[in-house]
Amino acid sequence: GLTRRYTFNVTMATVTRLCLTKSIPTVNGQFPGPKISVREGDRLVVNVHNNINNNVTFHWHGVRQLRSGWADGPAYITQCPIRPGQSYVYSFRIVGQRGTLWWHAHFSWLRATLHGPMVILPPLGVPYPFPKPYREVPLMLGEWFNADPEAVIKQALQTGGGPNVSDAYTFNGFPGPTYNCSAKSTYKLKVKPGRTYMLRLINAALNDELFFAVANHTLTVVQADASYVKPFTANTLVISPGQTMDVLLTAAASTSSSAFAIAVAPYTNTVGTFDNTTAIAVLEYSPQRPSMLRNLPAPSLPLYNDTNAVTNFSSKFRSLDNARYPAQVPMTVDRHFFFTVGLGADPCQSPINGTCQGPNNTRFAASINNVSFIMPKTSLLQAHYQRMYKGVLMANFPTAPVRKFNYTGTPPNNTFVTHGTRVVPLAFNTTVEVVLQDTSIQGAESHPLHLHGYDFYVVGTGFGNYDANNDTAKYNLVDPVKRNTISVPTAGWVAIRFIADNPGVWIMHCHLDVHLSWGLSMAWLVNDGPLPNQKLPPPPADIPKCS
Ligand code: C2O
Repeated sequence: GLTRRYTFNVTMATVTRLCLTKSIPTVNGQFPGPKISVREGDRLVVNVHNNINNNVTFHWHGVRQLRSGWADGPAYITQCPIRPGQSYVYSFRIVGQRGTLWWHAHFSWLRATLHGPMVILPPLGVPYPFPKPYREVPLMLGEWFNADPEAVIKQALQTGGGPNVSDAYTFNGFPGPTYNCSAKSTYKLKVKPGRTYMLRLINAALNDELFFAVANHTLTVVQADASYVKPFTANTLVISPGQTMDVLLTAAASTSSSAFAIAVAPYTNTVGTFDNTTAIAVLEYSPQRPSMLRNLPAPSLPLYNDTNAVTNFSSKFRSLDNARYPAQVPMTVDRHFFFTVGLGADPCQSPINGTCQGPNNTRFAASINNVSFIMPKTSLLQAHYQRMYKGVLMANFPTAPVRKFNYTGTPPNNTFVTHGTRVVPLAFNTTVEVVLQDTSIQGAESHPLHLHGYDFYVVGTGFGNYDANNDTAKYNLVDPVKRNTISVPTAGWVAIRFIADNPGVWIMHCHLDVHLSWGLSMAWLVNDGPLPNQKLPPPPADIPKCS
């Protein structure tokens, strides 16, 4: 492979959206940030200079980082933040992955504006397992806040309540005609009749799972999270934050209109407020008749809480599983974990004017197995490398919930959680199964769980409480989809499997940033294997120090 070099200058830049001009953190002055292009097998070297008045780190979402955990990026997990004025070089190889991934800041809520696509082409001369598209177009779905997202989460954490929601959804940064003074700020995808396009879709929104559809056009899904899937068609897609999806769209040979709406709207079951708006981009046929741009044919999207539509869509994913790209599902399990995933509440410790804005005068918290994750003050990976756990790590993370109840029924009154920085130690090469069970505390809500350092197979899913006796028999161990982010369904569960063959400390968390901020997170500590090429190498010399 080649070495591909990029420079990321993190700077403030002025942008105007929804009639508001403001200064936002950007990479190289661009919003969304620059596209990274590599081939499978290449080394990627990204030189980051932090020129803003805040800490920053970068995460290469979905990249496995085999023995390159120092480049993974989550703040206080694999590195301390790059402080203002400092630099850090991320260097890692892309091994055994191809398709669309993305990069984003992994400190506080900075990823709201610090994100961009990562396109991984197959090795030179290796074709796609589907007809080569005429053109490929990265399409990042995002969320725009008129307020400073850093101020939004700060306020929420101080008052204990839910954060203010975003003001618009965006396509490659453009909100489009359904929002105030944004008609001229519309993303247009120009297509030629009869040609096939591959949309490299990325959900970069902070807090919303999204429905996606194109009026009068059927989409063929060929890839998810940089793994090939058995192609299937759909009129409406569902993409959770963190997930990527490559879809083929064939422009019709002749059409009734010269332009069609591409629409995005939220899917949620939250009991709180959410950004319930629909964003529009335009699929524009060339040659184009401009008069047709009024009354765009619009797709009909499911209702915001249509869980059936979501279940129907997610049930279609299967690994491609052919001779060249076989599914390699672990058939036996060394260690089984049962994790409850959900919201909870905390006693109000520092009330603002005597109250906390969470439910019943509490503050919101979120947890896995009743433990709400606390970010340490130093990097866990560094602590692990130096075997200096004291004062950093607490007891091991529980392998099953501390309090058992009917997870999908009416939750008990006492929904308080404990807090801590706790990890699960794993011996090298352990085969792990995790059943992630959604809980109904504060209302059932799906949680897009993202695992760093690994892809996992989604071997089972269902509604209600997971039942080991019956549900295990229904697992798909033949061609389950391989992903790095999976939404734990509303009032249901999902079972994943992976082999812990990548030494390091790997965070697993909800990719709704507000839930991550509330502690819906844990980490796996995967020990070195016996062979030299199974060990984590020493940290790079320029790894940022914690103050
Ligand atoms: Cu895309 Cu830990 O994040």
